[in-house]
Amino acid sequence: METVIRTIDPNQIHLEIEMSIIKEAGALLKSGEIVAFPTETVYGLGANALSKKAANKIYAAKGRPSDNPLIIHICELETIDLIIKTRPRQLELLAKHFWPGPLTIIMEKSEIVPDEITGGLNTVAIRMPNHPVALALIKEGGGYIAAPSANASGRPSPTTAAHVFEDMEGRIPMIIDCGKVEIGLESTIIDLSGDKPVILRPGYITPSMLEEVLHEEVIMDPGLLDEKSIEKPKAPGMKYKHYAPKAEMLIVEGSTQKVTEEIQKRVEQDVLQKKEVGIICTDETIKYYQNACCKSIGSKKNPETIASNLFSLLREFDELGVQKIYSECFSEDGLGEAIMNRLMKAASHQIIHV
Ligand code: TXA
Ligand code: MG
Repeated sequence: METVIRTIDPNQIHLEIEMSIIKEAGALLKSGEIVAFPTETVYGLGANALSKKAANKIYAAKGRPSDNPLIIHICELETIDLIIKTRPRQLELLAKHFWPGPLTIIMEKSEIVPDEITGGLNTVAIRMPNHPVALALIKEGGGYIAAPSANASGRPSPTTAAHVFEDMEGRIPMIIDCGKVEIGLESTIIDLSGDKPVILRPGYITPSMLEEVLHEEVIMDPGLLDEKSIEKPKAPGMKYKHYAPKAEMLIVEGSTQKVTEEIQKRVEQDVLQKKEVGIICTDETIKYYQNACCKSIGSKKNPETIASNLFSLLREFDELGVQKIYSECFSEDGLGEAIMNRLMKAASHQIIHV
């Protein structure tokens, strides 16, 4: 299959979206095909969420286990009642403050949602993305679009159309390219199907932002804090190997001075063994390293830059073919919690404390 790329100028979308491209993509979605499209978090692999066949095509294109459920993307709050059993009490408030935006909400599903979408669960994950191209496409494609991140299973999530092409060339008919995404990490997932709201995946919307709006406690899924101890995490996707770069990756944690010294010491030993080494550092610390391929992930003063570059850096190190990657550790405040969650997964939780 040929994969065509249609480009929409990100500088023009706030004025006018090229509807001919949206119509072409919408027709593909309506015919049961897959289209990759931009959202504000990462690129998604979209298909009709009310069709079993389309869901199965997504699993096949990604090489993803079919017990790992998909998020249904909508473009208007009123359409949600068709796919959920009842509106949880917190839905209105969350939708009002955070939709369209990087928040996915888990609720009890209605009969119409195929088991293929939810991996057999009786709940469904729903999000309204904050991207004009995504919203126009969801509308044109029938209103209910299942969309996992558009990477091959196990690879870093795609933040550009070129990343999607790397993983999906020949597997899907169309990619809509609208430049680099804004946030760079997948949405926060909050589960409203139980007694208390629980965060299953940290993201741009932080627990304190949610608590401020809900005026109630929001708990972190214990599986997130100690993933290894939990065999059956609530978000099934959390149990799979994620974002793993080809190289072995280690995170070094401690004061800036100790971390940079420890990484440089280890690099020297690796270089003696003729290993090619990569370092994930920051604008502030890049000057402390030598003899390795150092890449700044952004500025410690601006966690947004770190979130935005994280997945593309992991892909760059794969391309360079380094055998080992050391990463500095970042603050877990605010957005930092999501950043460290993704980095820890990439490093298969290998961390050195100095
Ligand atoms: O930002 C995002 O959310 C992106 C963009 C494309 O919207 N999508 C995304 O989808 O990250 P995906 O499939 O890569 O991640 C969805 C996560 C998985 O970990 C999955 O297990 C979890 O959501 N999930 C989906 N439905 C669920 C459910 N009913 N209960 C618990 N977890 C669920
Ligand atoms: Mg994903």
